[in-house]
Amino acid sequence: LSPGPIARRPGALASMESRCVLVESLGHCGACHTPRNALGAERTAAALHLAGGDVDSWHAPALTALSRAPIAWTEAELFTYLRTGFSQFHGTAAGPMAQVVQQLAAVPDADIRAMATYLASFAPAPSADPAAQAAALKQAAEASLRPLDTLGGKLYDGACASCHSESGPKLFGVRPALALNTNVRAATPDNLIRVILDGIPDPAAADLGDMPAFRDSFSDEQVAALVNYMRGKFAPNAPAWSGVEHDVARLRAHQTTH
Ligand code: HEC
Ligand code: HEC
Repeated sequence: LSPGPIARRPGALASMESRCVLVESLGHCGACHTPRNALGAERTAAALHLAGGDVDSWHAPALTALSRAPIAWTEAELFTYLRTGFSQFHGTAAGPMAQVVQQLAAVPDADIRAMATYLASFAPAPSADPAAQAAALKQAAEASLRPLDTLGGKLYDGACASCHSESGPKLFGVRPALALNTNVRAATPDNLIRVILDGIPDPAAADLGDMPAFRDSFSDEQVAALVNYMRGKFAPNAPAWSGVEHDVARLRAHQTTH
């Protein structure tokens, strides 16, 4: 089950070959995070290992240099995310990943730490000051939200800002900063649409809080306007998504168990 010879950052632990067994067998991380070929088998080329895959109409993001996380994942944040379902610099584990975190609750800290060490060796170079980078990303996004005179802006302000804005009172659970969320920067809007339509009914841990579903309150056109607005505000350097309304209709028709 060795992942093969993949370029790692210099200085990565030498004992990692044994660590990868944990990630590859215990967690089956690659089952979702490695792309599959047309026959459904995990693609084995080293360059594709953990390069992102699709599962049950969710996208499992790349965990390698291809990661679109605005702040590079580090060992410390990977450990916290896998242990608690939440990272201050990234957000929560939702959908199928919430269930993975629930299952990992049975795994000792030392093994989670080993997974985090192994995975961090594939991540892009870490930020010099992730806290400052997070603050700057949040501030820039917050400052860009107004004017709210578009359909997307109005929907965001009316339906989302109460729980997600940086100002305002903290209601319950965590307050995931959308400017730090990998899904807003992804190649496709699928995970973002999925979360808006179906909410997050089954969080990785109860204290993270759940999120309501908007399937019955918003039309496809409204979800698309909201998603396009969020892409522009929370991922200002990424190209706009096209055909979002079509994606909303497709994902609305395919309801999942997550
Ligand atoms: C059943 C499919 C599945 C399995 C198995 C799985 N993941 Fe995930 N993973 C996902 C999905 C889907 C997401 C996106 C979750 C979200 O958007 O909240 C995700 C997100 C993540 C993220 C956050 C990435 C980012 O940039 O936001 C990390 C880190 C991660 N997974 C690590 C792991 C590790 C380590 C394992 C093995 C222990 C694992 N995953 C197993 C489906 C899976
Ligand atoms: C009642 C509070 C509440 C409202 C309203 C709300 N959210 Fe959330 N949202 C949450 C919480 C809590 C989480 C984290 C849940 C978890 O994973 O346990 C979350 C998570 C998210 C995530 C991260 C999902 C992931 O996979 O990383 C996105 C994106 C998101 N919300 C978008 C929205 C949008 C868009 C709206 C408006 C249509 C909205 N939220 C309205 C509470 C809320």
